[in-house]
Amino acid sequence: MGRKAKCPAPRFYNREESFMKQAAYRAALDTACALLRNNLAAFTENFQSSNSEHNFYLPSENVEWTTGFCTGEYWLAWEHTREDAFEQAALTQVGSFLHRIENGIDVDHHDMGFLYMPSCVAAYKLTGNETAKKAALLAADRLCTRFQEKGQFLQAWGTLGAKDNYRLIIDCLLNLPLLYWASEVTGQSRYREIALAHTATSMANLVRPDHSTYHTFFFDPETGAPVRGSTQQGYRDGSAWARGQAWGVYGMALAYFYTGNAKCIELFREVTDYFLSRLPEDDIPYWDLTFVDGDEPRDSSAAAIAACGMLAMVPYLEKNEADKYRADAEKLADALIAHCAVTDPAVSNGLLLHGVYAKNSPYNPIPKDRGVDECNTWGDYFYMELLTRLTADWQMYW
Ligand code: GLY
Repeated sequence: MGRKAKCPAPRFYNREESFMKQAAYRAALDTACALLRNNLAAFTENFQSSNSEHNFYLPSENVEWTTGFCTGEYWLAWEHTREDAFEQAALTQVGSFLHRIENGIDVDHHDMGFLYMPSCVAAYKLTGNETAKKAALLAADRLCTRFQEKGQFLQAWGTLGAKDNYRLIIDCLLNLPLLYWASEVTGQSRYREIALAHTATSMANLVRPDHSTYHTFFFDPETGAPVRGSTQQGYRDGSAWARGQAWGVYGMALAYFYTGNAKCIELFREVTDYFLSRLPEDDIPYWDLTFVDGDEPRDSSAAAIAACGMLAMVPYLEKNEADKYRADAEKLADALIAHCAVTDPAVSNGLLLHGVYAKNSPYNPIPKDRGVDECNTWGDYFYMELLTRLTADWQMYW
């Protein structure tokens, strides 16, 4: 696979080609729903493990930051097929999410949005389910407990206030919609104020001059002053972890949606163009954007997330720019369908092959290799969201 000289201009399609592409996206979504139908028996009372092993998910309790994606996939499948079985499975899982938050099971971290938006907020938006609303509001309250006045950010992990964990991470931009939603349904402004403060702090610190992004950023617990950027899951502190950059793409689109701040569009362009400029020939990013060729593993989930972010931004851009980013998102979707999509349940019980959960490197020995060249639940979810965005006028769960 050769390195691209520069990011080529996207190709635009004529009417007939567009019609054929739509049909291909619908067919891919049909395939994903058929694969999910096979999973209902194994993964309704149980959830899926965060990543597959040899391409097969194992049953898991409702723990970690990833279980909401399984429920979210069922909601997307229900929207596409209107089959009761998907709605029933998703509602069963909503009950588990209420139990989880009421009993404080693995919720001492900031990932309340990843957990509760595609599961419970989706349930509430789609069906008005009150259990889902209650669970999601409790999760929003929990997230607010992680807000640090000194530094004005939501602390991602670890003991609150501890110096070695006094930091935000770029992923958290996807947790913030839970707070905007909570303000909207309760009429209380505090949730929104925290989200706005965290967004402003993220925007001021996470994007480097070359438009790559830091995964995490530390602050001084005494003064709140910015200290330094670092990575937790990337190749090295100064590189751009592919999924982090993708969270930045989608995060800036969401930040614009909720704030209307024009600076978010500027940052969206910067982080998106950097992401696109680091794609290899086949358009499936390596797990860290340091790599543009060679044998390092790919992270298909980063492509799915970034493409969803581009499509989320499209309605707010002038036509020429909107057409460009839509074409870029389609290019990523085409690559995922061609190189990563599961079509045979004998190969995998996931939807999207070739993701990476975590990988260590000579510069970053902290993460243990986990889910390397495997499916992961967020990759599956954002792949379905991408196909849904490309084929329907979708009201987002975020
Ligand atoms: N939000 C955690 C991850 O992307 O691995």
